Amino acid sequence: MTNFFDIKDLSKKDLERIIDESINIKKKGCDKILKNKNVLMIFEKPSLRTRISFEVCINDLGGNSLILNSNEFKFGERESIYDSAKVLDRYVDFMIIRSFEHSILKEVESNFSKPIINALTNHSHPCQVIADLVTFKEKFGDFENKKVSWFGDYNNVTQSWVEAAAILNINFYIACPSKVSVSKNTIKWLEEQNKHLIISDNVNDIAKNSDCIMTDTWISMGDKKDKSVDHFKPFQVNSNVIALAKKDVIFMHCLPAYRGMEVTDEVIDSKMSVVFDQAENRVHAQKSIIKHCCRDNY
Ligand code: CP
Ligand code: NVA
Repeated sequence: MTNFFDIKDLSKKDLERIIDESINIKKKGCDKILKNKNVLMIFEKPSLRTRISFEVCINDLGGNSLILNSNEFKFGERESIYDSAKVLDRYVDFMIIRSFEHSILKEVESNFSKPIINALTNHSHPCQVIADLVTFKEKFGDFENKKVSWFGDYNNVTQSWVEAAAILNINFYIACPSKVSVSKNTIKWLEEQNKHLIISDNVNDIAKNSDCIMTDTWISMGDKKDKSVDHFKPFQVNSNVIALAKKDVIFMHCLPAYRGMEVTDEVIDSKMSVVFDQAENRVHAQKSIIKHCCRDNY
């Protein structure tokens, strides 16, 4: 039984296998590994891509999907997380959870005996980043020594990218306001991997010679509604930023995008933008992730 909580939990071999298997599944399809399995998806926050792409995955893999939305269920609201997890353990074979606190995953894990996939928390969004890595590999063939540059807020998607980049030897740069900080745990983990993060508020330095430029919303789900975004404005991805990158640069965004804020229409609608490939690759990547989680069963 294997959970999928964070990219940093994976060995380099497993991460590479999940990516390559996603590409293989995209070309050749996948066996019905969820036949006779009930898969519960719990979404405590809104979703378009994650929810629908997982539903497509579950259907294609022969499973039965059950969904609880935020208006129906929240961990810890009507009863303890312990009681909910124990009950669900008697009903379903798999859980996919989008939640606020990352710690909820750990608490559910202690009381649920089957696989759990992290479908986004405040801390990380590993399913998205597997799809991003698949999209990157399709375009460039490999990762070693490529320069990937992130612009704007350091959020859950950034966190999963930091972890993936450290494992795959991608040079990951972050352009963000100086007041944005990285957690002590992440710095410690990077040190243990003998890796360091390049963070700067110098947009030009970071953009220069990038193979991939990416960004995400300045206000993530769960952030304070009155969060100030003014200090992110110099970190907008626009044609000036792209002009500094390599000629064959790609632009990535996990979506939903706030056009005119973190990215201009000109960039997101340009030929270099692979945002819809990223969205499509969620399906192939998540089948591979499900296969990874079920690997002890076949
Ligand atoms: N990228 C992503 O996870 O989108 P949703 O919030 O729509 O699932
Ligand atoms: N950082 C964003 C990602 C959405 C897919 C959020 O958490 O809202």
